[in-house]
Amino acid sequence: MLIRQAEFIKSSPSYKDCPPSTFPEYAFIGRSNVGKSSLINLLTNNRKLAKISSTPGKTQLLNHFLINDSWYLTDLPGFGFAKVPVHIKKKWERMIRDYLENRENLVCTFMLIDIRHEPLNNDMLFLDWLGVKQLPFYILFTKSDKLGKNKLLSNLAAYEKAFSEKWDPLPPYLVTSSHTRAGREEVLGLIEQWNASYRPLNLES
Ligand code: GTP
Ligand code: MG
Repeated sequence: MLIRQAEFIKSSPSYKDCPPSTFPEYAFIGRSNVGKSSLINLLTNNRKLAKISSTPGKTQLLNHFLINDSWYLTDLPGFGFAKVPVHIKKKWERMIRDYLENRENLVCTFMLIDIRHEPLNNDMLFLDWLGVKQLPFYILFTKSDKLGKNKLLSNLAAYEKAFSEKWDPLPPYLVTSSHTRAGREEVLGLIEQWNASYRPLNLES
């Protein structure tokens, strides 16, 4: 898919303040510093669109970007490791869960996981929650440029093992890197496919 246009629309403190749910939408979620904003910039070929920082916790609101005038990307705050007080962390988590449960045009949530780390309990619990809520998700492993091929494969095997304890079939995943651009075409291909079959909820009945 060719990205002709990518523009920041707004930052919202709640799903109730999000832009009209006119277009199919894809959310990027994952621990703080996992590379959500970087991946959004990679997909849109715009290094300045989503704000990137080496300090975890840079993204604090629900940030909507409109792509090609026809679909939304949403950059969400990180959960987990951000160095912010517990009450703020709780507030972000509530905001994210409310958004995921209530945003009716949300087609798929991309759950980002840093491939360098072993499976982490928080991430697994969050995937369980998506499963219980029957929210479609797709896993994107990030920062693959930081690992050699063997380590990459053994880490992927560890994830498959962890997933297999809870999931059958295993959740779908892609391996990405904002530095080498790995996975970019594949992710855009998925979105293109989903956009083509998207039907707004209120037209379905
Ligand atoms: P929060 O907004 O704090 O939740 O972080 P985030 O998930 O949006 O991460 P962000 O994109 O800001 O990236 C965090 C750090 O990781 C930055 O220093 C990036 O340059 C770096 N980074 C992101 N993606 C990659 C990648 O694919 N490879 C490498 N080597 N570094 C990356
Ligand atoms: Mg961010």
